[in-house]
Amino acid sequence: MTAQSAKTTATPAGSPNFHYKNGVLHAEGVSLAALANDLGTPLYVYSRAALATAFTAYQQAAGSHSVLICYGMKANSNLAVLKEFARLGSGFDIVSGGELARVLAAGANPGKVVFSGVGKQVWEMQAALNAGVKCFNVESVPELKRLSSVATQMGKTAPVSLRVNPDVDAKTHPYISTGLKENKFGIAIEEAAEAYKLASTLPGIAVVGVDCHIGSQITEVDPYLDALDKLLKLIAQLDSMGIKLKHLDLGGGLGIRYDDETPLAPKVLLDRVFTQLQTRGFGHLELVLEPGRSLVGNAGVMLTTVQYLKLTEARNFAIVDAAMNDLMRPALYEAWHGVLPVAPRTTEGVLYDVVGPVCESADWLARARTLSLEQGDVLAIESAGAYGFVMAGNYNSRPRPAEVMVDGDRFHVIRQRETFEDLIRGESCLP
Ligand code: LLP
Repeated sequence: MTAQSAKTTATPAGSPNFHYKNGVLHAEGVSLAALANDLGTPLYVYSRAALATAFTAYQQAAGSHSVLICYGMKANSNLAVLKEFARLGSGFDIVSGGELARVLAAGANPGKVVFSGVGKQVWEMQAALNAGVKCFNVESVPELKRLSSVATQMGKTAPVSLRVNPDVDAKTHPYISTGLKENKFGIAIEEAAEAYKLASTLPGIAVVGVDCHIGSQITEVDPYLDALDKLLKLIAQLDSMGIKLKHLDLGGGLGIRYDDETPLAPKVLLDRVFTQLQTRGFGHLELVLEPGRSLVGNAGVMLTTVQYLKLTEARNFAIVDAAMNDLMRPALYEAWHGVLPVAPRTTEGVLYDVVGPVCESADWLARARTLSLEQGDVLAIESAGAYGFVMAGNYNSRPRPAEVMVDGDRFHVIRQRETFEDLIRGESCLP
């Protein structure tokens, strides 16, 4: 037995848009068996309705308050996904020039874009200034100085929030915790007032807000409230220094249900945040949020086909056609993803490790799951809509999977499966 406990996942965990109908797993009205058959596997499948449901939960939680949701697009940056969120009214949290280019390619409004990230380069600052983003979330004093000089040279003014590191424990996996002192992110809260003072005197900089992002897959409200408390104290201090802010960005990080977690609902968080803002005299501030995973995670599955069943003395392996290069989360974080047979068998299951064909022992997708399998069966790896395809690579010269968006009883291929030609594009041999 591995670190993961033996269990069967008989029913879809995260989203009602994935459900069994006549013994076959469906995304909305589309059979996943048919999709796997028509388009091959591995295959990412998203539900358009699930995206809308997740976004609406934030909108409803916002109510009549001034809230801008900037989708943390690193979670899933397919153009069709971006376009859908833009249509629903979302802004975007970007972390690179490439993500900015995607936002623009999707036809979204750059005035609703916040630009995060610790390593912004000159060309990225220039592109964002030319596009007219809402705000740069500046993560260090050297970055602030560079932005000032880039903006001044362009004859522009850069709207700025400082990303403050509030030193709170998000109580999540260490790799996805970002608000602790030892993390590389943000400006230490104790040094923030001094950095704001500098920002307010630098040419080409307009101070507009404050920002933090404490981590990801957070299921408790307290870390957010701790961070908010520290931010509000800072805002009050800035106020007394004559530095007036327009918005407060609390970042993303709300968790989803992979297994048996109880996710923090946007409304639970926002009700508490609004109460704090009102009672402490900050009701005028616009609230910005940067949710990624909670908008897309349970809106997607990855389909994969069993190639071989290898029964050994120590373990049973289901060797499938998807691997760590297609879905990296288990290898990187020992992340748990549900595994559902697309057409479940009635025979009793046995314990399997679901592994890929890549030449690494870390190449596993799930461990110790009770499954009843035959060669050729299709499995759905759940909760793969966030940090799935975007983290895929070509290790072992494996083309990346196709992506499909289901919409009611129709589906659209929103990214073709890569070909061998795609893999070697740009390579050349010596003369
Ligand atoms: N804003 C900033 C500045 C971020 O760094 C992130 C995520 C987000 C927003 C969105 O966070 P979310 O709402 O998705 O938790 N690859 C990891 C997750 C890395 C998250 C990085 N930052 C995983 O697969 O769990």
